[in-house]
Parts: sequence; C-alpha cells; structure tokens
Amino acid sequence: MAFLEINDLRKVFGPISVVQNFALAVERGEFVSFLGPSGCGKTTTLRMVAGFEQPSAGTIRINGKEVTGLRPNQRNVGMVFQSYALFPNMTVAENVGFGLKVAKRPASEISGRVEEMLRLIKLPTLAERYPYQLSGGQQQRVALARALAIKPQVLLLDEPLSALDAKIRVALREEIKTVQRALGITTIYVTHDQEEALSMSDRIVVMNEGRVEQIGTPFETYNYPKTRFVASFVGTLNILRARVTDAARGLITIDGQEIVARRGGAGMATGEIRSVALRPEAVSLADAGGERNRMQGTIEDVSFLGSVMRIRVRFSTKSRRRSRGRKSPSASPTRMCSFSMAPSQADPVAPRPHCGRGCLAQRGG
Ligand SMILES: Nc1ncnc2c1ncn2[C@@H]1O[C@H](COP(=O)(O)OP(=O)(O)O)[C@@H](O)[C@H]1O
Ligand SMILES: [Mg+2]
Repeated sequence: MAFLEINDLRKVFGPISVVQNFALAVERGEFVSFLGPSGCGKTTTLRMVAGFEQPSAGTIRINGKEVTGLRPNQRNVGMVFQSYALFPNMTVAENVGFGLKVAKRPASEISGRVEEMLRLIKLPTLAERYPYQLSGGQQQRVALARALAIKPQVLLLDEPLSALDAKIRVALREEIKTVQRALGITTIYVTHDQEEALSMSDRIVVMNEGRVEQIGTPFETYNYPKTRFVASFVGTLNILRARVTDAARGLITIDGQEIVARRGGAGMATGEIRSVALRPEAVSLADAGGERNRMQGTIEDVSFLGSVMRIRVRFSTKSRRRSRGRKSPSASPTRMCSFSMAPSQADPVAPRPHCGRGCLAQRGG
C-alpha cells in the first residue's frame, strides 16, 4: 500500500465539476508534482489532501489511515502557500514555532525545534526578525521551516516559488529539493512551471481541466507523452501535418518530403493525414550528406535567446519571400537550408491535421 493514496477524488462547485476521477498513489519519501495550466484544479486537489476543502466524492488515505473527513490539524500535513502567508506580527522564531505552540508542546522542545529548522533553511541568525524585514525568498524559506516544524507526514507546496524572481526561484528550487531529500519527506508540489516539475520531481501528474492526463517520471512525461495535451504542455513542441505514405515501413511525408516516423507505422494507415510531434532539439541544421530524415526548409525567423538560437522554419522544397517584410535581419530574404532529425524523433500523435510550421532551436550560436 502506498503512503498517500487518493482514490476517485471529485470536487464540484455548484454545477461545475473542477476535479474528476483523480487517483494517485504516492510512495513514502516520494516527490510528486501536479503540473498543469492555471485553473486546471491543482490547488483544489491539494487543498482536499490538506483538509481545507471537503471532496464531493472519493477517499484520501495517509499511511494506511483514511483522513478524508478529518480537519487539517488532525491530518499532520505541512503546507506552504504561493503568497508568503507568514504571520506579520510574529518573529521568524514565533512563526516557525507556531504549530508546536498550538499543539501545546513544552517551550524547551519548541525552541530546540525552531533552532534546528532555521539551521535547515540556512537562516540561523534571523530568528528575531519580522517578516517585513525579510526578502521574498527568505520569507518562503521561513514558510517551509514553519510547515516542517510539526514533523508532518506529508509536505504540500502550492506554487511556493511563483512570486519570486527567476534567479531566486532556481536557487530555492534546489534548496527545497535538498531539504526534502534530507528529511525523506513525502511531498506534493503544485506548479504550472514545467521546468520546475521536470527538475524537481520523482514523478509528475500532468493535469488538464480537472483530470489527470498522465502520471510518469519527468523522462517519461517529456519523451513519451500519452496525449496531445501533455506533448504540447511539457516542453516546446512543433505539430506538423503529415501524410502516411507507407504505414508498414513507417514512412510519412511533410510537404512532400519523406521521413521515417518513430515507432514505425504502429497505428497508422497508408494514405491518412496525421499530426506529427517534433521536439526542437531533435532537429539540427544538416551539412551536405546523405543521412536519413533530411528535409529542406526555409528559415523564416531567427531569434537569439542566449544559450540557444530559435530558428523558425517552413519545411518546403520551394524558397519563399515574406510578403510583408520588416526592415530587420530576420526579415531579410529567406534562406533555403537542410535539416535532419533522427528517425526516432518524429512521433505521430493524433489523427487530426494541424499547421505545417516548425519552430526549431539550434544549440550554440
Ligand atoms: N471556492 C470555489 N468556488 C467556485 N469555484 C472555485 C472555487 N475554488 C476554485 N474554483 C474553480 O475551480 C477551478 C480550479 O481552480 P484551482 O484548483 O484553483 O486551479 P489551479 O490551482 O490549477 O489554478 C477554477 O475554475 C476555479 O475558478
Ligand atoms: Mg492554484
């Protein structure tokens, strides 16, 4: 039996169903992210696990015990919110010790635990400060310490980094992960940021419109998306229109140019139009030569993004000029180029046609 078990969880607000058929089993010590766009039901699901929201149906078990009807303080879970949510009139030490004080633990135990927690979050000297005297990043570390001080069975974090600036987000991401690993605490982390979910999680639950789209490791989620939604939400993706020319051999054509699709022709029928998913990093500008899966295209736009260049390409054997060109290098007469991709990379996703424009990133300058 898993440490945290969620079975067929549902939530309706009036006539609207915001979480449906949500099922998940989390192992002890596992770090699981809920990833999905705003409004897909991540917070509502997390709040049901915490006990702040009562499910319309379904059950939640922690460590073998059903907690579905219990109040938050009877579940022994720790929660960190998006906004800092520290008590403004309490010092850092008082904030961190709050849960233990409510639980009427002895003063010596509280001070010892607070000290231990402040060491853990690397703020041992700030015990007497008030929240307004802390940076946003420091406030979130204190919120984490406050959530952990009660030794919760499960740690729940709801977009804890989204109010912080990019650099601090990355640093804190690593700190949270380090603390989580050190304590071996079972954790659910809500985010709409795919990079956060990919880099931190043991497994990711991708959600859309109140439903689970896919549950898998970061590697599986990125490389083997099960639905079109997952394929386009996690990572940058090109969806290209292709015609299946020989299903048995896995051959497809994009704008008349033939390539071999991943997984051969599994599930395809010769003659049908399919959408093909293509990750930017699977495509490279090709030198002259005769490799397989080479295509011709016209570079339509180039943007410099620091560590990568984003090149927008129209796969076509004919050169094009823009009808409304701006006076900038990217709008200069377009250039024909060859591109290649590994046969394992072009992945038919769905039997519906889509646009035929590719957006490719090329590593380096
Ligand atoms: N108390 C509430 N009453 C009515 N609708 C709600 C309530 N809380 C959330 N919702 C709705 O439920 C949906 C999911 O919200 P939420 O769980 O906050 O999404 P997320 O955290 O993924 O952005 C949204 O459409 C939201 O408007
Ligand atoms: Mg939310």
